[in-house]
Amino acid sequence: MSSNSQIRHFFKNQTIFITGGSGFLGKVLLEKLLRECEEIKKIYVLMRSKKNKTPTQRFSELFNYACFDVLKSKDENLLRKVFLINGDCLQPRLGLSEQDANILVQEVTCVIHAAANVKFDQPVKEVACNVRATRDLLELAKKMTNLKVFVFVSTAYSNCVHADIKEQFYEPPMKAKQLLQLVDALDDDTLKAITPQLLKTWPNTYVFGKSIAEDLINTIGKDLPITVVRPAIIISSISEPRIGWHDNFYGIIGVCMGTSLGIIRVINLKKNGIAPLVPVDYVSNCVLAAAWQRGTCDVTTIYNFVGHKNNQITWGRFIKNSEANYLECALRKAVWHFSLTTVENKVWYKICTFFLHTLPAYIADFVLVCLGKPALVVKNYGRLDRLLSAVLYFCTGSWNFEDHNVMELWNAMTDEDKTLFCFNMERVDHDIYIRNSVIGTRLYLFKETRENSKRTKLKLKMFFVAHYTLLAFLWYILYKFVMFLIELF
Ligand SMILES: NC(=O)c1ccc[n+]([C@@H]2O[C@H](COP(=O)([O-])OP(=O)(O)OC[C@H]3O[C@@H](n4cnc5c(N)ncnc54)[C@H](OP(=O)(O)O)[C@@H]3O)[C@@H](O)[C@H]2O)c1
Repeated sequence: MSSNSQIRHFFKNQTIFITGGSGFLGKVLLEKLLRECEEIKKIYVLMRSKKNKTPTQRFSELFNYACFDVLKSKDENLLRKVFLINGDCLQPRLGLSEQDANILVQEVTCVIHAAANVKFDQPVKEVACNVRATRDLLELAKKMTNLKVFVFVSTAYSNCVHADIKEQFYEPPMKAKQLLQLVDALDDDTLKAITPQLLKTWPNTYVFGKSIAEDLINTIGKDLPITVVRPAIIISSISEPRIGWHDNFYGIIGVCMGTSLGIIRVINLKKNGIAPLVPVDYVSNCVLAAAWQRGTCDVTTIYNFVGHKNNQITWGRFIKNSEANYLECALRKAVWHFSLTTVENKVWYKICTFFLHTLPAYIADFVLVCLGKPALVVKNYGRLDRLLSAVLYFCTGSWNFEDHNVMELWNAMTDEDKTLFCFNMERVDHDIYIRNSVIGTRLYLFKETRENSKRTKLKLKMFFVAHYTLLAFLWYILYKFVMFLIELF
């Protein structure tokens, strides 16, 4: 072990409890801790049952992901430091058994709370359960006599109703206690009906819940060694554990996937708006550096991890770059030719959505019905458009994020730690990064090879011809319609 790495030194002999370890960020955190901080004592990972698999089954499959290959080739024995804790944030006290809770209380020195339902439109009841999980975890952490740090992974948008987002706690939309009482008192239908009143100016239930959870961190956690990391939009890794590694289908990544498949053809965004996209490995490094900093000094700090002010990329450049790369690396699984229109005006966006999503969807359903198959394209596009409006809230708004603490954290690190746990985006080449991200989507999300087969190339050419033929047809209809209106009036 290098003597100049303060972060590695900090994690030596530590026992970590991580929630969200099976997620996109969680896996990268887990991998990095094991690979770079080999002298760590133990890592406990919270895992719930999912998709008919028990936590034990899921835990045994966790290390099959490509992101653990580098670690396994280094030393497979390191995986033995990871232990399963059965639990579910939707259950009271995270569904922990008495025995597991005792183990955590006695052994854990660092908590990384990264579990969250990241769907923007989750029901209020689920939001409340996740808020309760944060409360219950804080209560458990209070009993941990050897606790050195409690990291809460929030989001840069947890206070997105404010234009200037400082690295400080804000007033939540409501108190956790109030939310939990409300959820206990009302049935699901009533809760669904009053959700818009609860949200008021908050764009979705995800950020609403994160804001309330942050308030718990501030109040219940005030005597704990707390630190909060608020990443912006997390996308593929820049270098570790593999270049362009992805493992998430939500948010902007989901939009990129839909676009690359030829399903999404129009999006609403502010071309000159800043795209605060941050690589998952840099977020993970920032979380570990924040843990080290909090574990070695007695100040609660919030980090808005949103990229670097001197090296930002606009949504327009991001889309243009991604488009060029997706056209070059078209997918075997594509269902149509890649073609994306970006629109800033909301009314024009609605019109384009009708012509580029709704109308083709009706045509596709008509073909399906003629073939004796069920019509489902219109219904799916309805869902997709709702998802798009939720995601694109973040692509059309603009926020002024303070990131003074992130810069201070970076400046406090040794040169060796800056190399081992890099998160400074000042020198990131966005063009190369986007290209690697597109290739990563292909390799890790769609599990396709780098090169297309002859058959795929032929299919893509057919889509190209069909796309422009349909487009010409639609323009012709539009032209006829306009001419008809002109004649009418
Ligand atoms: N992705 C982003 O762009 C982004 C941006 C800012 C902040 N964040 C924050 O970063 C953290 C990690 O997000 P991510 O992108 O890694 O999302 P993710 O891939 O969806 O991972 C979420 C993790 O939380 C766990 N989880 C969710 N509900 C749970 C429950 N009821 N009980 C136990 N575990 C539960 C998931 O476990 P399962 O595997 O069992 O589902 C998974 O491990 C979250 O706190 C998120 O709010 C993410």
